[in-house]
Amino acid sequence: MYDYILHQQIKAALIKFKIEKEEDDLSFYSRLIANAPAIKSLFDELYQHHPKAAEQFNGLIDTLSAAHKKRTAALHKKDAAKADKGLWFLSNEITGMSLYVDNFCGDISSLSGKLDYFKKLGVNLLHLMPLFESPAGESDGGYAVSNFRKIDSRFGTLDDLKKVQQMMSAEDMYLMIDIVLNHTSHQHEWALKAKQGEKKYQDYFYMFDDRSIPDTFEQAMPEVFPEAAPGNFTFIPECGKWVMTVFHKYQWDLNFSNPAVLVEMLDVILFYANLGVDVLRIDAPAFIWKQIGTTCQNLPRAHTILRLLKQCVQVASPGMALLGEAIVAPKEIMNYFGTSNYIAKECDFAYNATQMALQWDSLATGDTRVMLAAQHELLKKPYGTSWITYTRCHDDIGLGYDDYMIQQASFDPYQHREYLKDFYSGNAVGSTAMGALFAVNPKTQDARISGTLASLCGLEKAIINSNEAEINTAINRIIVMQACTFFIGGLPMLFYGDEVGYTNDYSYLNNVAKSYDNRWMHRPIIDWTKNNKIETVGTIEQRIFSATQQLISIRKKLHMVADYSNLTWLSPYNIHVAGFLRQFDEQRLFCFFNFKNEVAYVDWQALKEKGNPPVLLFDHWHQKKYQVGRDKEYLIIEPYSFCLLESV
Ligand code: GLC
Repeated sequence: MYDYILHQQIKAALIKFKIEKEEDDLSFYSRLIANAPAIKSLFDELYQHHPKAAEQFNGLIDTLSAAHKKRTAALHKKDAAKADKGLWFLSNEITGMSLYVDNFCGDISSLSGKLDYFKKLGVNLLHLMPLFESPAGESDGGYAVSNFRKIDSRFGTLDDLKKVQQMMSAEDMYLMIDIVLNHTSHQHEWALKAKQGEKKYQDYFYMFDDRSIPDTFEQAMPEVFPEAAPGNFTFIPECGKWVMTVFHKYQWDLNFSNPAVLVEMLDVILFYANLGVDVLRIDAPAFIWKQIGTTCQNLPRAHTILRLLKQCVQVASPGMALLGEAIVAPKEIMNYFGTSNYIAKECDFAYNATQMALQWDSLATGDTRVMLAAQHELLKKPYGTSWITYTRCHDDIGLGYDDYMIQQASFDPYQHREYLKDFYSGNAVGSTAMGALFAVNPKTQDARISGTLASLCGLEKAIINSNEAEINTAINRIIVMQACTFFIGGLPMLFYGDEVGYTNDYSYLNNVAKSYDNRWMHRPIIDWTKNNKIETVGTIEQRIFSATQQLISIRKKLHMVADYSNLTWLSPYNIHVAGFLRQFDEQRLFCFFNFKNEVAYVDWQALKEKGNPPVLLFDHWHQKKYQVGRDKEYLIIEPYSFCLLESV
């Protein structure tokens, strides 16, 4: 609909930024005109009653125009290439790895020397954990940012990052970084000015003169780090006020009900986009809107902000996909892909944290029924969006799926979660896992789980006991977990170190800046003499690396594994086995994962219930052909093994 005032504003910005001639300008202009009504209405939904709304809206349009002008020709070209491909990020040819640059190889510039390592493994997307300036002792692994535009000197410089990005791009590799949207460090310039009493910057945060409003907020707000940072507000002696700090005391929540904050953060997002970022991980989006009397999580306005950001990114840097790091209940997560008019127009990616946790559930119990009970929710993900699938990441494992899913599998939810926590902290009979409980809430006894993939799978214990059989079992557990993650649909994201089986690192306990946070046990410091053992056949490192490599390479070959909402779960003929079908046109891949330490028998009938019964199958994992048997005959799967059966 034509809106005279809106279009006058756009025209003014185009003239101001001299957006008039180039082809790229015309594309930008078309995108801006197309999205402007949505941008305006989302902005109004948030701010129409704010006294500075009109001024800030002008600021937003200017921010888009300025960002477009700064985008390099190379990035415009890449945008166009991605647009030609369509939904480029659904591809089965992308595999990612998350890593801390310092722990992995020292600094950003040394990363260029490691590109061959990624290539060898098959990884072509790197998620570089937070790189921007963050106070050394109070950084939450970089998630407390004191300067959004300056790389922390520990890692290098912005130029180093630009160089690596260019090298990666030349090798067809993708770059992912974080925008820490919900909060800043208490050392950020805005926080420092707020401490000094500057009203403008106090309004960038949630600041209160006394405890009355914080106390009311607290009644409904849960705690994220109940052990390390209880409560959601911190007293700031410099200005005598209370500030909202949902995460750590040194992470101040930004106040997005102030449109100036939104425009500032949009500017940062587009600054990152212009560094050549392909996927932007929006940290903790569930928390970005606060409302007294609510949990201050997953609120409708948080979605309005995400939608608004998505429409803006589409205008100024259309090649950058957005990943919403919402680690929330299965029902809530779908909303991050957009609802009603915004279906598939909010976040392009979300983490499949439910599936990740359910795989750990199945591995502990040897039973896939809870996993299956959750799938009807996960299958609601709209076409055109995708998951980040993962087995481990830098954070803890939360058992956040619903009680009814556990009940449907005939378990008692409380007992079941207690068992899982005991199992992974190594306290259950028969458990070989060596993890630890994270963020135990003294009031509710809720807890999450820390530990590396290898340690949670029993490798650490097996090595301590020099038990060869247990080492083999642990490696099989690692691989079956990764295999399920790789084929369930979405972009698989490895966590650095897991490709060679790093076990827990307890050195964090000697560092006061880390010892309060046991997530550091699973954030290893890479020892390249260990990683180089991938060259020696038979080492643990080589066995895990080459299996991971093989999984990636199989995945890249099979187009039906691209995430076209093409996943169908098979009837569970055996509760120990997760079985699903990936299908694209005539191509079909039947995937089976045995989560139990016993041989599993799957009735061939399971493969005959979805479309034409297959006759001949090729197992890409074992490189073996199968003739499909009669009903009541069985496909046999070894303990903790799996089959990737293509119908041929
Ligand atoms: C995200 C990060 C986590 C961090 C938190 C606060 O959940 O993944 O590591 O502690 O946000 O920024």
